[in-house]
Amino acid sequence: MNSASHSDSGAARVVRVELGPRSYEIRIQPGLLLKVGQLLATTVKARRVLVVTDRNIGPVHGRPLAKALQSAGISGDLIELPPGEGAKTWEVCKSLYDICFDQGLDRSSCLVALGGGVIGDLTGFVAATFMRGIDFVQVPTTLLAMVDASVGGKTAIDHPRSKNGIGAFHQPRAVFIDSDALKTLPDRDLKSGLAEVIKYGVIEDAAFFAWIEQNLAALLARDPEALSYAIEHSCRSKARIVGEDERESEGGNRALLNYGHTFGHAIEACLNYQGYLHGEAVAIGMALAGELALRRKLWKPEEAERVEKLILRAGLPTKLRLSDPAPELLHAATFSDKKTRGGQLRFVLPTAIGKTAVFKDVPEAEALKVWQDVPRA
Ligand code: GLY
Repeated sequence: MNSASHSDSGAARVVRVELGPRSYEIRIQPGLLLKVGQLLATTVKARRVLVVTDRNIGPVHGRPLAKALQSAGISGDLIELPPGEGAKTWEVCKSLYDICFDQGLDRSSCLVALGGGVIGDLTGFVAATFMRGIDFVQVPTTLLAMVDASVGGKTAIDHPRSKNGIGAFHQPRAVFIDSDALKTLPDRDLKSGLAEVIKYGVIEDAAFFAWIEQNLAALLARDPEALSYAIEHSCRSKARIVGEDERESEGGNRALLNYGHTFGHAIEACLNYQGYLHGEAVAIGMALAGELALRRKLWKPEEAERVEKLILRAGLPTKLRLSDPAPELLHAATFSDKKTRGGQLRFVLPTAIGKTAVFKDVPEAEALKVWQDVPRA
């Protein structure tokens, strides 16, 4: 498998999320932003649309999108929120409800989330709860949102004690991915998105992991064909997993998507969502989960090294910084995560590259020891 063998990067790649009456399409295509108006008119049939974005993305992608809506005869205002994880708070969420009421939105209206994971999660949560739920569409502009956050209907805001601690499952009506948006994405954000791409390889697809190893240079150089393939493949994995286990049920496979996230979310929460991008925290979390799996003799040292090497080659961290919070604080933060049930820790651990399982039997002391022992950079 190599990127050159795939279809023309200008053609639309379509992935379907099969969820009965809540099924929808993920459409991936360069230049798609300018077609969102037409697509929206046929998918959602909303009379009024509110586009939610942030102040960084608005000037670059918001104006073209607003124009595309106008030319399709859809009336749609553009709301620009402050950028960053800080927007996923109750205060910003409330201000968005106020705007929805001020603008006269009703149950037939539709929200469009234009941006990264923060905008998607927040807008999705407002769509899930405003008037008991209205339609929303995801138009992700970061790699991380394209391959993970925009698909699957997890919507949320943060609570000071828990990332995504307040939320709802609410599926979008469609996901429109304009891969051209990656041309202007800052390098650090591109790398952060690659963490979630690597995740799919480790959790369930050894061949895809090997493809990433072979094509990493092309991905980092933003080769459109390689990026479109990585997005489509990641979305296919996620669509299949979500189609089988929409609500992350006990014993279901959706929990596997949390590989690297038990440690990662604890890092983010402990640092008050500052200091690391989500993908960076997940990258460290994947390395720590790899170390825990190694200590439990679940997989071979060569496999752990192969994953760590790929994470490093992607320009992502595998170690905490010396200045990061104490191991005991990070360990305590894992207990506020939603992946804990009845106070019991749950870890998604690899048993091979391409194979993972949920482990509920990791004693607290064993998890704490990983935080304590792993050297810092
Ligand atoms: N990001 C994990 C999930 O959507 O289940």
